[in-house]
Amino acid sequence: MSKFNRTHMCGELSESNIGQKVTVYGWVQKSRDLGSLKFIDLRDRTGIVQAVINKDATEDLFNEAAKVRGEFVLEITGEVAKRGGAVNTKISTGSIEIIVSGMKIISKSDTPPIYIEDDAKESEAVRLKYRYLDLRKPSMQKIFFTRHKAAQVVRTYLSEKGFIEVETPMLTKTTPEGARDYLVPSRVQPGNFYALPQSPQLFKQILMVSGFDRYFQIVKCFRDEDLRADRQPEFTQIDMELSFVDIDDVIKVNEGLMQKLFKEILDVDVQLPMKRMTYKEAMDRFGSDKPDTRFGLEIKDLADIVANSEFKVFADAISSKGLVRAINAEGIGAKISRKEIDSLGEFVKIYKAKGLAWINVTEEGVKSPIAKFLKEEEMNAIIERMNAKPGDIIFIVADKANVVCDSLGQLRLEVGRRFELIDEKKFNFLWVTEFPLLEYDEEENRYVAKHHPFTSPMDEDIPMLDTNPGEVRAKAYDMVLNGYEIGGGSIRIHNQQLQEKMFGLLGFSEEQAWAKFGFLLEAFKYGTPPHGGLAFGLDRIIMLLTGTDNIKDVVAFPKTQTASCLMTNAPSPADEKQLEELKIATKN
Ligand code: AMO
Ligand code: AMP
Repeated sequence: MSKFNRTHMCGELSESNIGQKVTVYGWVQKSRDLGSLKFIDLRDRTGIVQAVINKDATEDLFNEAAKVRGEFVLEITGEVAKRGGAVNTKISTGSIEIIVSGMKIISKSDTPPIYIEDDAKESEAVRLKYRYLDLRKPSMQKIFFTRHKAAQVVRTYLSEKGFIEVETPMLTKTTPEGARDYLVPSRVQPGNFYALPQSPQLFKQILMVSGFDRYFQIVKCFRDEDLRADRQPEFTQIDMELSFVDIDDVIKVNEGLMQKLFKEILDVDVQLPMKRMTYKEAMDRFGSDKPDTRFGLEIKDLADIVANSEFKVFADAISSKGLVRAINAEGIGAKISRKEIDSLGEFVKIYKAKGLAWINVTEEGVKSPIAKFLKEEEMNAIIERMNAKPGDIIFIVADKANVVCDSLGQLRLEVGRRFELIDEKKFNFLWVTEFPLLEYDEEENRYVAKHHPFTSPMDEDIPMLDTNPGEVRAKAYDMVLNGYEIGGGSIRIHNQQLQEKMFGLLGFSEEQAWAKFGFLLEAFKYGTPPHGGLAFGLDRIIMLLTGTDNIKDVVAFPKTQTASCLMTNAPSPADEKQLEELKIATKN
């Protein structure tokens, strides 16, 4: 016999249990002493139930109940009755209570530094230090139940589609995802290091060589990079790889996965096929490779209108191969203050724009600091191009191409947020396709792979590898949801000659390529099936499923901006003895 005889969870009790004797376990949310009546609200992961110690209770029970404080762990036994007082509509058990006949204090608690309530307002630092208490909050528990359910749905769906889950090593050699590695020193081979995987990329490709055909894994990945609201140094991927597939096959499986996930978790119907947009179109229209398409304010090009303008800022940008582009903040002109316009001017500077020109279109004519520099027909052409009407305000940036796209893309999002133009109820899925294969690294003076060195070029662009590598498009695709990149992948190169050419373009000698990726190149010698895959960021998907914009909310024990864990105090210095064994000395 168990010494615990729980009959119900707290939140499960209802009027259908009236008259039954029950035993529940949980934490004290609140206790109130009204002299002849004592109330205890007991909480477990399913909810809260009210327990009452009334005049019929023994003196011992009264004495025991007097000792109870918040967050004590109790066993409570009693009969379920219709609530004596007013019904509490805020909780599911609000119309009943337990008339206590027995109670045990199982564990005491110090006064907790955190209120176990959803709208408690402690600082994030306190919440993370006492994460176990923070995780007791119903809203936090709900997130982790959702996360659990999502992982179940993914496993079931992919298993049904013929994928098998295979684990890959955590102590490994560096993988080419482009971030900094976390290194782990080897004790038995002093001076040598493992890298924690940035992703299972090379292993999953090797599993295709091994003939597994369809692999998946829900797996931790590690990247030592600057953190943001949607990035953690260790995060979880839904990682997959498929053999004998091209772009459309990978897209189809994954559209189905997202449709299933959003149906099962949120009861949202995702329409398939999802929209697709090339990288070029995304950059041109939204200034971003992960556009939030829930609202308008699209970017338009003004080059032809202003190329010969007397306004030097515009004309010079065009003559030096830059861009002049604009967004029309429809309806915002009528309500924006001069101060707000100036603050948007400051905002675009974060993205390296040198200035922000604006044209406020009013019933009385245009108001604009650049009106004096523009000819009337230029001004009219801009207004026409931007479809601007009285009440609208046009924002223009002139600069190098990447600065214009980036700053206008970010400005668009900022205006959308500030003026609440975004429909928060929408889920806009989008595939961004045809990414450039290569990116020119100004610092290193060479091409680097935009995705990774095993990404296949588009078949029709292969001849351009010799003539114009910067223009070659890749068989790479990202899935974007509401402005977040939730997943990305590619069809891989499986042809050795093409792979060698790619390494050449990336500036690796054959020797260097073999030193880095020799095990993969060796594997590719023994019959490589054409293959491709994708990885989703599970944490980001859970953020979107639970409506938070902070990735820390969906990770049980997350890291801060400085990659520390405030609960365990990791990272921390190692013992002299440990360092000695590893033959490592630290520099100051
Ligand atoms: P990629 O680097 O695009 O692709 O990563 C896949 C997805 O993982 C998520 N993600 C992150 N989430 C939280 N914190 C981070 N630091 C972080 N970094 C990435 C994103 C991203 O879309 N091996 C390839 C996949 C492939 O080609 O099959 C890869 O890792 O949602
Ligand atoms: P100036 O003559 O430099 O004071 O600029 C006149 C207007 O042009 C101001 O409103 C500036 O914000 C704007 N401006 C300056 N540089 C740029 C630029 N690179 N792109 C867009 N607007 C700019």
